[in-house]
Amino acid sequence: MDGIGDLLFRHHTRIVFGPGALASLPDEVRALGASRALVVCDPGITRLGLADRVAEALATGGVESWRFDALSENPRDAECCAAASAASHGLGADVIIGLGGGSAMDAAKAAAALVTNGGTVKDWEDPRQLEREPLPLVCIPTTAGTGSEVTFVAVITDEVGHYKMALRGTGLAPRVAIVDPELTLSLPPALTAATGMDALAHAIEAYTCKKANPITDALALKAVALIAANLSTAVHHGADLEARSATLLGSTMAGMAFGNSTVGAVHCVGEALGGLYDTPHGVAIAVFLPAVFRFNSAADLARHADVAKAMGVDAAAGDPAALAELGAAAIERLMADVDIPRLADLPGVDPADFDELARVSAGFSVSQMNPREIAAADYLAILHETYRTD
Ligand SMILES: [Fe+2]
Repeated sequence: MDGIGDLLFRHHTRIVFGPGALASLPDEVRALGASRALVVCDPGITRLGLADRVAEALATGGVESWRFDALSENPRDAECCAAASAASHGLGADVIIGLGGGSAMDAAKAAAALVTNGGTVKDWEDPRQLEREPLPLVCIPTTAGTGSEVTFVAVITDEVGHYKMALRGTGLAPRVAIVDPELTLSLPPALTAATGMDALAHAIEAYTCKKANPITDALALKAVALIAANLSTAVHHGADLEARSATLLGSTMAGMAFGNSTVGAVHCVGEALGGLYDTPHGVAIAVFLPAVFRFNSAADLARHADVAKAMGVDAAAGDPAALAELGAAAIERLMADVDIPRLADLPGVDPADFDELARVSAGFSVSQMNPREIAAADYLAILHETYRTD
C-alpha cells in the first residue's frame, strides 16, 4: 500500500549499536534498576567464549551474573521453564539477558515471561496475553539474522505436540538491545550466509506484504540495501567489521520492519519445510526467495522493482517488470555467491512430500498477508519450480 493512512508502529527497545557496544551492558542493566542477571544462551555460545565475555563485562561493571545454557537449537518449552527456574537462584535475577541467535533470544523472552507469570510456555500460547510484565530483558544478538532483539514474539517448540508455538505481546520486547558487530565476527561462513538471507527475506517480505506501511517501508528498504551490499563480504571475509556492522544493522532494522508489518509466503513455505525436515531456518527461507519473488512480482511490480533497486539493480535497466526480474536474478546471484545449498540437496527433501508441504504452507495465517493471493496449488508450483531449477 502506497497511500498514507492510519497506521500503528510499535517500538519498545532501546538500541545500543556499534563495535564495542557490549561495554555499555552493565550501565544499561543498572539503568533498568537491576544488579543480578541471568544470562540465557545456548552451549555453542558458551563454547565460542561469548558467554564469558558477557560475564566479564557484567562483572567489570559490578553486576552479578550466572548462566543458563541448556538450550537446544530450537528451544523447548521445558527448557524455557528450566531457565525461568534458574532465574530464582540466590536472591533471584532482576534482569534476564538473552545472548545468541533468535532461538536463544526467544528462550530468554519466554523465561522472562514465565518468571513473573508462572506456568509453562504452552499456558501462555498466543492468543492468550501475559497478565504480568515479564522480568526486564536485555538481548544481545550474535547473528545478523532474526531481528528478535527488537520483536515482540518468542517462538518455542512444544516437545509434546512437535509444533512451534508463539508467545506474543509488546511486553516481550526487550527493554534494551546491545547490538555489537564484534560479537558476530566469529560466526562461520555458512551460518553468516543463512542468517543473512533470513534477514534479507524479512526485509523483502516486510516491504512487499499487505501490511507494509510507510515507516516499515523505510526500514525495510534500507535493510535490503545494507544486507545486499555487504552479505557477500561478511561471508567471505568474516573479520571485515564494516560488513559485519552493515549486515547486523540491516537485520535489526529488518526486525523492526517485519515486527510491525509481517512476512509472507517465503516464511510460510520455509517454516513448513523446516517443520518437516528440521532444515535450519535461514536455509529453508533462502531457497524459496527467488521463486516467491517472481510469483509475487505480478501482483505489485513497482514494489518488487523498488527491492531490485535497493539490491543495486540499475534503475534505468528497464520497466518495473524488467527491474523485478533483475531483482530475482540478483537474489539468485547472492545465494550462489554465499553458497546457499539447493533445495534438492537439503537432507530429507523428497518431492513426494510437496503436496503436504503446500497444504501446510497455505494453512499459515501469514499467507493471507502475501501480496498475491496464494493457495496450496501455487505453493506446490513454487516447491517444484525451486526443486527443479536450482
Ligand atoms: Fe525468518
